Amino acid sequence: MQEIFEQLEFVENPMYERIISDLMEQQYSIVEGFFSADEVIALRNSLLEKYEEDAFKKAAIGNRVNEIIEKSVRGDFILWLNELEVNAAEKTFFKRLNNMISYLNKTCFMGILFKEFHYALYPKGTFYKRHLDTFQNDDRRKLSMVCYLNEENWQPEYGGELVLYLNEYGKEVAKTIYPFPGRMVIFESQILEHEVKPVEQKRMSITGWLKTR
Ligand code: OGA
Ligand code: MN
Repeated sequence: MQEIFEQLEFVENPMYERIISDLMEQQYSIVEGFFSADEVIALRNSLLEKYEEDAFKKAAIGNRVNEIIEKSVRGDFILWLNELEVNAAEKTFFKRLNNMISYLNKTCFMGILFKEFHYALYPKGTFYKRHLDTFQNDDRRKLSMVCYLNEENWQPEYGGELVLYLNEYGKEVAKTIYPFPGRMVIFESQILEHEVKPVEQKRMSITGWLKTR
């Protein structure tokens, strides 16, 4: 009886299923509509409010105990989120995220136990040079996630494209992704090198990692 109940509880989610198959086939997935337009606006407002309060700091490279600020590598400003101290917008963010994590753990045994997320703001003229997200001596990072919080009228010529360097049959292929608002990109942290091209307008996102033991 217990088993029947557990099976009934499981509802297949087409969006999550697509993410899973994309990750298996191409090591990344681009998702539109993971958050509603209103949720994106609420997150952007929350980011901007904290940025204007000067809560952000210059992003560093290296791990948290060994930080180096290197403007020639990255120029963004970040603010780490604490899931225990969230406002309404961030609460919804974590609710959706946790829902997806439990789905991934249940259906693909991904073993995601930890997560870490920050807001990021790239002022005009900044970028993040090509890198791998596990360079920070943190091999527990399994999936990288970025959700763009830019204004609705974001144009391709504003720059700030995310470029993923894929390996297709032994050949390097650059996949360019525009940071349109509400778009979410998920990719394999340990495998895909990537960069953020210079921006012409301030570029906003919420970025983080799903981590294993
Ligand atoms: C990062 C990163 C990509 C992006 O913060 O490590 O690569 O599109 N971000 O903002
Ligand atoms: Mn990165």
